[in-house]
Amino acid sequence: MSIKNICCIGAGYVGGPTMAVIAQKCPHINVTVVDINKERIAAWNNDDLSSLPVFEPGLDLIIKEARGRNLFFSSNVEESIDKADMIFISVNTPTKTYGKGKGMAADLKYIELCARQIASVSKNNKIVVEKSTLPVRTASAIKNILDNTGNGVQFQILSNPEFLAEGTAVNDLLMPDRVLIGGDNTKEGQKAVNQLVEIYSNWVPKNKILTTNVWSSELSKLTANAFLAQRVSSINAMSEICEKTGADINEVAQAIGMDSRIGPKFLKASVGFGGSCFQKDILNLVYIAKSYGLDEVADYWEQVIIMNEHQKQRFSDNIVQTLFNTVSGKKIAFLGWAFKKDTNDTRESAAIKVADNLLSERALVSVYDPKVKKERIYADLENLKTRSDEENKTLLKVHSNAYEACKDSHAIAVLTEWDEFVNYDWAKIHKAMQKPAFIFDGRGILNKDLLENIGFSYYKIGSGY
Ligand code: UDX
Ligand code: UDX
Repeated sequence: MSIKNICCIGAGYVGGPTMAVIAQKCPHINVTVVDINKERIAAWNNDDLSSLPVFEPGLDLIIKEARGRNLFFSSNVEESIDKADMIFISVNTPTKTYGKGKGMAADLKYIELCARQIASVSKNNKIVVEKSTLPVRTASAIKNILDNTGNGVQFQILSNPEFLAEGTAVNDLLMPDRVLIGGDNTKEGQKAVNQLVEIYSNWVPKNKILTTNVWSSELSKLTANAFLAQRVSSINAMSEICEKTGADINEVAQAIGMDSRIGPKFLKASVGFGGSCFQKDILNLVYIAKSYGLDEVADYWEQVIIMNEHQKQRFSDNIVQTLFNTVSGKKIAFLGWAFKKDTNDTRESAAIKVADNLLSERALVSVYDPKVKKERIYADLENLKTRSDEENKTLLKVHSNAYEACKDSHAIAVLTEWDEFVNYDWAKIHKAMQKPAFIFDGRGILNKDLLENIGFSYYKIGSGY
């Protein structure tokens, strides 16, 4: 039997784009994305495609094509679960902020709530697909809840982790390196795996669809993110050595990246990785290792996070030190707040930590980001609880124009690698700044010669000459 109705619980950065692409590529399947957050659902249904809750290049056109045809966004969670043959769970799994595993383990309360809701509503057999990144063996917990609290219907649990990166999510979904599907080795399990394989086969070549057992699939997701983050921490560790020795990290990255065993991707030194996944997934991996008594394994992966924290800290320390050991009362302009370019997502963005450090040094920070809203920036700072909301609002201002943000500043810090920053009229910006005018390029995207000729003192992450 082919799948005719899909429901996805969670209309976030993962659920929204993933379901939009499935709906576009499978016009014969009805796809309904549900969320407990009514405002989010309303935003997905907005006629103005520039106001979708998730900004991803190319997503608006896909929504335009599929929405109302076979793609629906709804707050009616129970009705959509009831109708569906296949249910994707794509809710957030943040790091626990309380109790056992606090600060490390993934908080599975939303996953459990979903499982209980599915169990109570379902009147016929269903396939439940884990899309959220989860600790290994979560599927068995979900199955336990479904089998013991349900109405006697049969559930198959699949693991189908997402590998999309924000900013390139649409391309990653349309042309994935691979699609990973984990399922039970039973006859019913394999049947469910094949039904999901059939869906992806509408646009993904069969040789890119990999099927494994459930645990391998769950662990592969954590492993992929840990390896990617480790590459960033490795190159960032080398960036500090470059600055001390006179080497240049971009040259080093190019030289090692040409070794086909290493490869060129994920070797860009930065002010530190952010995003909703890397830190959370590694902490989760560390927690899993510790819970099995594998302390050396846990310590090994924890070092990736420690390095990342150090990279953010040393970036802000360097700003303070360079500005004659004090930034008190000095205006520092931030170009970028998102955790990477081409997204409005700010979760775990390095900019938050750098701003927090500078605000604690009593700097006046002015922020410009092409896509991030003012309310988001203040909310990010408020979540840290370092100082009162009023203080944050007094010390940090958000601008909708980069030139305004930089005007009268003592220094500019580049926190996100937005393309538009490269082609600014840097002479004009220099003219309107306090002198000496400093730039701290945390993404290594600006042209050193051009800026130094204009008169800037230019610091580039990982460049020691
Ligand atoms: C999330 C996880 O962070 C990631 O680990 C996983 O791989 C995929 O899901 P993302 O889509 O980026 O990623 O999260 P987010 O944008 O926060 O979206 C989750 C949505 O689920 C939110 O809109 C939230 O309102 C919704 N939700 C949460 C429910 O609908 N029901 C719940 O019980 C909990
Ligand atoms: C990541 C994974 O790439 C994706 O497969 C998974 O599904 C979710 O987590 P994402 O967090 O959206 O995706 O973005 P990614 O491109 O991986 O970047 C993460 C962070 O690392 C960003 O802050 C980015 O700026 C930084 N980064 C990345 C570097 O600093 N240098 C690099 O070379 C690459």
